[in-house]
Amino acid sequence: MPMQLNRRDVMRAMVSGAVSLAFAQGTFAQHGPPPGKIALRFNENPYGPSASALKAAAKALEMGAYYPISITDDLLNAISTKNGVALENMVLSSGSNEALQAAFVAWGKKGKVLLPALTYTDHIAYSIRMGVELVTVPLAKDMSIDLEAMAAAVDDGVSLVYICNPNNPTGMALDGDLLRHFCRTVGKKATVIIDEAYNELTDEPDYTSMIDLVREDENVVVMRTFSKIFGMAGLRVGYGMARPDLASIISGHVMAWPNGPGLAAAYASYNDDEFIRFSRAKVIEGRNMVNETFRKNGIEPLPSQANFVYADIGRNATLFQKRMNERDILIRGSFELYPNYSRVSMGKLEDLETFDRVFTEVYNS
Ligand SMILES: Cc1ncc(COP(=O)(O)O)c(C=O)c1O
Repeated sequence: MPMQLNRRDVMRAMVSGAVSLAFAQGTFAQHGPPPGKIALRFNENPYGPSASALKAAAKALEMGAYYPISITDDLLNAISTKNGVALENMVLSSGSNEALQAAFVAWGKKGKVLLPALTYTDHIAYSIRMGVELVTVPLAKDMSIDLEAMAAAVDDGVSLVYICNPNNPTGMALDGDLLRHFCRTVGKKATVIIDEAYNELTDEPDYTSMIDLVREDENVVVMRTFSKIFGMAGLRVGYGMARPDLASIISGHVMAWPNGPGLAAAYASYNDDEFIRFSRAKVIEGRNMVNETFRKNGIEPLPSQANFVYADIGRNATLFQKRMNERDILIRGSFELYPNYSRVSMGKLEDLETFDRVFTEVYNS
């Protein structure tokens, strides 16, 4: 199987390249997609940050001399109030990836971590390096997470179960009540993390979320991020909600403090309902466009409830990625185990129109 670069590898290469370029030109490296390229590869949301977030971040930059104490409190208060949980239930981290890594490392000391064979993995390489032992469970035939098989795999050696809902890269969401039942049952034996990075984009965000189980003191951790619906991937703010004893274990393993401009932007966005509605509508419109591109080329995509679409394109997705890259469209290549599945993230609608044209040409050439 061809070697697949992950986001971290790409970032490292970009940083080293960009640093040399910056030195050569005596300027700063640019942030965002490479010039002239359309980036549909990392599940970012180009409709953010919101205007309110940008304003707040700019103001926070001016206060960059000071540690971001009160804005941290403000944000924690806003999130806990909206979700009906206490401050003791809250975890804050530099992107949700950091809290996920922290949880894997913390629970990894007590036992194995169980997860689906195809899921979000950026936190996993780090966890393996930290000695965490993982056990994977194959997806069901329809590419959904196989909850029955996952429940059956939880033995005394498993301390943590990771479920990403909707899952990345499939975009498929589990039924809320089925997952609730799973969490309540499995939670008697092991802690369950539900990664809800894309929750706000699902058909029924409240029904799909497990936050009610946190309120009920179940053995469940809900992880969220400002990177997706709020379009703040570069500003690095994530949060978790869990029973106080679980939240304090994760907070005790988180290594960094989120940055002031990121926190200020998060606070300004969090209750910006008009922006949330706008962002959701644009992402869903884009998702429909990408689904349509696949379908008109005879490909049936998986039913996504996230800001990306995953489909079996009937040929090697990494080779196809290279051909799209030559035409300045950056998409994901193969994930391990599924060489013919391609993942396309949402971009601006005009970029998705270009994607539609280029995809159709490259696919049929
Ligand atoms: C399922 C899932 N969880 C977590 C993350 C990490 O997001 P962040 O660290 O930017 O909050 C991602 C990013 O793509 C993701 O897809």
